[in-house]
Amino acid sequence: MSMTNEMMDAIEKDLVFLATATEDGIPNVVPIGFARPLDEDTILIADNYMNKSRKNLEKNPWISLVTKDSQKNPFQFKGKVEIFESGKYFDTVTEWGQNAMTKLTPKAAILMKVEEIYSIQPGPEAGKKIE
Ligand SMILES: Cc1cc2nc3c(=O)[nH]c(=O)nc-3n(C[C@H](O)[C@H](O)[C@H](O)COP(=O)(O)O)c2cc1C
Repeated sequence: MSMTNEMMDAIEKDLVFLATATEDGIPNVVPIGFARPLDEDTILIADNYMNKSRKNLEKNPWISLVTKDSQKNPFQFKGKVEIFESGKYFDTVTEWGQNAMTKLTPKAAILMKVEEIYSIQPGPEAGKKIE
């Protein structure tokens, strides 16, 4: 399943909650403002301040995301990330940071390949994979 335009729009405009886990499976969730789809299978995230999240990603590349307004956008995204400290993805997040109201200097670009999308709509579809 690829993201629909509606899903991509929601991720672009809303805050997302990013879940990572340690190698041992201890979860960590943080809000992220700079997460934007590049296409229907890829989301670019700016690592501006990540600490535990970043350590987790270096050991375990699997993440899960939901948007803040999940009542409107009842979807859960899962996938694997790659981390870039230079190159075109890093340049893109650096540009986002430079265009922000308070200038930010990202540490890395986190590129998520969306592998699975689940419904989180309360009711019979809750938790089901969208094929
Ligand atoms: C509203 C809001 C938006 C945020 N956006 C980002 C972001 O786009 N990128 C980022 O690296 N951290 C962002 N943060 C900071 C992270 O949520 C978090 O504080 C940081 O990853 C450190 O937590 P950790 O040690 O669990 O990774 C944001 C925090 C808030 C409250």
